[in-house]
Amino acid sequence: MKVDDLVDAFRDRFGAEPGVIARAPGRANLLGAHVDYSEGWVLPAAIDRAVWVAARPARGAETRLTALDLGEEASFDVAAAAPPVSERRGPSSWVDYPRGLAWTLGRRGIEVPPIDAVFGGDLPIGAGVSSSAAVEMAFLVAWEHLAGFQLSGLDRARIGRTVENDYVGVQSGIMDQFASVHGREGHALLLDCRSLQHELIPTPEDLVFLVADTGVRRALAAGTGFNDRKSECFRAADLLRPHLPALSTLRDLEPADLDRLRHVLEPPLDRRARHVATECRRVLDGAEALRDGDLDRLGDLMARSHRSSRNDYDVSIEELDVLQEAAASAEGCYGARLTGAGFGGCVTAITSEAAAGHVREWTAAAFERRFGRRPELHTCRVGTGAGIVTG
Ligand code: GLA
Repeated sequence: MKVDDLVDAFRDRFGAEPGVIARAPGRANLLGAHVDYSEGWVLPAAIDRAVWVAARPARGAETRLTALDLGEEASFDVAAAAPPVSERRGPSSWVDYPRGLAWTLGRRGIEVPPIDAVFGGDLPIGAGVSSSAAVEMAFLVAWEHLAGFQLSGLDRARIGRTVENDYVGVQSGIMDQFASVHGREGHALLLDCRSLQHELIPTPEDLVFLVADTGVRRALAAGTGFNDRKSECFRAADLLRPHLPALSTLRDLEPADLDRLRHVLEPPLDRRARHVATECRRVLDGAEALRDGDLDRLGDLMARSHRSSRNDYDVSIEELDVLQEAAASAEGCYGARLTGAGFGGCVTAITSEAAAGHVREWTAAAFERRFGRRPELHTCRVGTGAGIVTG
């Protein structure tokens, strides 16, 4: 993505210079699959792929938008941003993100002015590297700048989560927006999703994230499947609580307690609970491995995380499994796992700069042998969090 192209498109459409350019990155998640909404720990890093928004205050009452990568335009009235549709289980259009943001801010007493904006980026869309969180955070930073208010990083992340939960209708956790806002170059981020405290853990300089895309998009399945998983986790916690009074969410479940209390949970709740309990431990172990610079151990935990996401949490598909197995078996790859919500989307593998080319080829060839087509592969590095590019 060239920011110049965005500015050119802005000039073409609005005949003026943008007042601000904001940028927010996507994220890769090393460990911590589907545990953020159970208040567990996650280990994501911002990546060097992002969404940029060029914007200025609008002259009229309407917010006018161009999605450059999609070649689409839309407009809406921020003062009457349509209320969410209660039965919605996923976005009906990209415009839900900026419109949902205006709606969410309005509910918090922040009336944002209408804007003219062009946005685009170099993040694969709907693939599990948080393109939607990046859109939300980039628009939020742009709006803050143009309207003259400033939110804390945590508030930004919470607002983005509310857009997803209450407007778009996906009951996701806070990880994606948090990583997009708090990511720091050269660091992964260990986030405790209960206290919302985070620790920045240095990553090796030559760490490469290879993001291998299945090309499968199951937006609807991801929306309904996502919400189903969350309800299952809450139901499992409700059933366990009489036996473990100190348990608030599944984060508080020790794997040993689960063995003792398995009879309390009917299938598949027992497997869902096991995934969350074991994944939380894997995240803490993985953070320790990263602090020690032990990428082999981190990679091994990623492989276990993938297996648990597949066998216990049921969010993998065959294409993801093939990519994961291929990447993990390539010489020079430390580990790989599905990223984001699953049900399609991408696998993230970690390698060194030197090994990345080989791991790419090996992974793509294995996928092609099985499915007769090349997967799209993105070579990413650790990037930095959301902010203003110029203003
Ligand atoms: C999506 C959600 C996150 C998280 C992951 C799964 O990316 O937005 O909150 O739940 O899935 O780990």
